[in-house]
Amino acid sequence: MNTAVSPMIKIEKTNNSKINEVDFDNLPFGQHLSDHMFVCDYKNGKWQQPHIVPYQNISLDPSSKIFHYGQSVFEGMKAYKDARGQVLLFRPLDNQNRLNISAKRLAIPELPEEYFMEGLKALLKLDSDWIPTSDGSSLYIRPFIFATGNGFHASPADTYKFIIACSPSGAYFSGKLKVLIEEKYSRSANGGVGFAKAGGNYAGQFYPTQLAVEKGYQQVIWTDDNTHEYIEEAGAMNIFMRINDTLITGPTSDRILDGITRKSVITIAKDEGIKVEVRKIKVKEVIEASNNGSLKEMFGSGTAAVISPITGFGYRDNDFELPEIENSYAALIKKRITDIQYNRAEDKFGWRYIVE
Ligand SMILES: Cc1ncc(COP(=O)(O)O)c(C=O)c1O
Repeated sequence: MNTAVSPMIKIEKTNNSKINEVDFDNLPFGQHLSDHMFVCDYKNGKWQQPHIVPYQNISLDPSSKIFHYGQSVFEGMKAYKDARGQVLLFRPLDNQNRLNISAKRLAIPELPEEYFMEGLKALLKLDSDWIPTSDGSSLYIRPFIFATGNGFHASPADTYKFIIACSPSGAYFSGKLKVLIEEKYSRSANGGVGFAKAGGNYAGQFYPTQLAVEKGYQQVIWTDDNTHEYIEEAGAMNIFMRINDTLITGPTSDRILDGITRKSVITIAKDEGIKVEVRKIKVKEVIEASNNGSLKEMFGSGTAAVISPITGFGYRDNDFELPEIENSYAALIKKRITDIQYNRAEDKFGWRYIVE
């Protein structure tokens, strides 16, 4: 890890804001980019002078290692505005920490906390008008590091770029969410990079997800690569099952991303007096629970989608429906999390971070 030095950020403001081109009442997810981005290069063995510049294209040598060896990691987080216009983040140090866990696995130099947090705060101050305030919307933040070093030798680059870009966003999913339990393809394997937010993890999911979409599902539920008997996670979300009144989620491992929303769901559920089990879940158990009516809910958790109730799932050639229930755990927990995020409730776990 680099020695921590507080970065002096050079700021170049845009004189051509695009904010009036965006319809803030109809925001898609992750399509519009805010006016500025934070950029910091790594070379000569250290992170260099950071900059905030107008959002713009970057130029890369075609032999840059990101293109050939996929040496890249990223994070996903959100900024919120409360009713008084105060800018808030949710557990940002967990994202900073996870970025470095991912970076280490991909042989990318770790980023000092100051670069991440100071860069993020300075960027949010500059682009705070881009944080939407309509219900359920937020400024999605994408910090990422990728290899820029040149040459076709299959080895880690010696230069990297860290960028933070922001996108005012509405809901990630809209409508019903049907998922397909996948048995052929695997997202990750023991000893692999599944626990890291590595770009290539997502590229590898696209084709199996396309096949699932062709069959009428929106997402894939990944099972373990070894036996395909155990539920792991869903697309870009961790997954929870409610069987009778117990909430169950699989343990994290080197195949599963340690989701910040997942951790928050577990804490809040316990705080609500809900019985939570973190244990391996067999596909067979879920099918049986669905057949005998004890499977009450299934939902995904993630920064982008918050809590997404799953309305049905496919397994082999059968479709299973989830019942529509009142007072769902999904709705209760989502409300508790979003109330903390938008500063509508007490923050008893200390998750809120005020950007001053
Ligand atoms: C594969 C995967 N699992 C789970 C999650 C949920 O993690 P978090 O709650 O930290 O957003 C994400 C999204 O970041 C993801 O990409």
